[in-house]
Amino acid sequence: MSKSLQAIRGMNDILPEQTPVWRYFEGTVSRLLDNYGYKQIRMPIVEFTELFKRSIGEVTDIVEKEMYTFDDRNGDSLTLRPEGTAACVRAVLEHGITGGGQVQKLWYIGPMFRHERPQKGRYRQFHQIGLEVFNLDGPDIDAELIIMTWRLWGELGIRDAVKLELNSLGTSESRGRYREALVEYLSAHHDKLDEDSQRRLKSNPLRVLDTKNADTQAVLVDAPKMADYLDEESRAHFEGLKSRLDAVGIPYVLNPKLVRGLDYYSKTVFEWVTDKLGAQGTVCAGGRYDGLVEQMGGKPTPGVGFAMGIERLVLMLETLEQIPQELARQVDVYLCAFGEEAELAGLALAERVRDQLPNLRLQVNAGAGSFKSQFKKADKSGALYALILGDDEMAQQVVGFKPLRGQGEQQSIAWDALAAHLATCVVQG
Ligand code: HAM
Repeated sequence: MSKSLQAIRGMNDILPEQTPVWRYFEGTVSRLLDNYGYKQIRMPIVEFTELFKRSIGEVTDIVEKEMYTFDDRNGDSLTLRPEGTAACVRAVLEHGITGGGQVQKLWYIGPMFRHERPQKGRYRQFHQIGLEVFNLDGPDIDAELIIMTWRLWGELGIRDAVKLELNSLGTSESRGRYREALVEYLSAHHDKLDEDSQRRLKSNPLRVLDTKNADTQAVLVDAPKMADYLDEESRAHFEGLKSRLDAVGIPYVLNPKLVRGLDYYSKTVFEWVTDKLGAQGTVCAGGRYDGLVEQMGGKPTPGVGFAMGIERLVLMLETLEQIPQELARQVDVYLCAFGEEAELAGLALAERVRDQLPNLRLQVNAGAGSFKSQFKKADKSGALYALILGDDEMAQQVVGFKPLRGQGEQQSIAWDALAAHLATCVVQG
């Protein structure tokens, strides 16, 4: 027998029992973003490889080892997007929608692809909701992004389980001066650095700060600090952000080692982290990238954004048992009909009810079946009520209305009165 086909490792099906939580999460976030005035943009999943190399940075883990890159039939090198910022910048430039200083507040949702080692909370196909703001350079918009996520954690009931880490990487000039000082210090301790950090010291020295190696971490204790190299502009920007977070009452921790794994950041960087998910604790991350648009061929255009991992946040909701109870029930009413004539009448009746109650979740039995089997299906559907159409009901032009969850006796309702009756007993989402 041939081997049965399987999904690719690290790329998951999201099964019907899981999708209600996904839709709840996505619905909550998209409503919030609408309310703050953000507009959705949809970019392709595949882009020219060059786009990611130029934006994320040649010497990052993502570009060096994690991209799904292939030649298409024309011989062009294409890559499944590992993140959304690069494509979003490409799209706004291509369509000229940030020209002349036009402010754009955009968000996107969709799958991203990274060839990482799969484990809980880390997958090869994962999903992000991200947003990007162009042409606003003040700390007020950085603050708005963080305030919005703070509100989201509150709405989702997970605020107590996440912590905000903040840092400023400064302008490219101040970062350049810091990089020099760091390289000088680390070079003096070259022998004590782990191999990976020795390599990074040459290619991308700031990433050494991110090391997990204990010996290198010990060397870093006395290393120069980014905060001491911030120029006046970056310092004022960072202070402006912190004072706004203080004003709203959002707690944060300053983490001078927070450098992020993508090269395009300047000034603000932040991560929302949790200790509820094991090793993969960052649920949302981002920052400012004032040089990126220019670097990709556009006019100087400030930008700031973040992305959150949907799998990780869904896991959080499950772990913290913050899934609203009403998600468990997906059917309000289940209609059972016995015999051909009743089936036809049932179909027409169901459509009339749907006309009047468009939000009612009404399921009509399909596949006929005995009394017993249809009731079993009605019960299993989770519906609150069964509607019954048999010979007696047909003769009297009524429908049997039977509570399935112990709320009273069965009654007969006239067809014409059914929608009004249902409206009084089912709370519609
Ligand atoms: P990132 O930190 O690479 O940033 O990813 C953002 C979030 O996506 C992470 O915090 C995590 O929740 C989720 N994530 C990343 N990799 C995986 C994975 N392998 N499996 C599951 N979840 C994952 C970016 O992608 C930037 N584009 C964010 C940004 C937007 N910065 C400015 N604008």
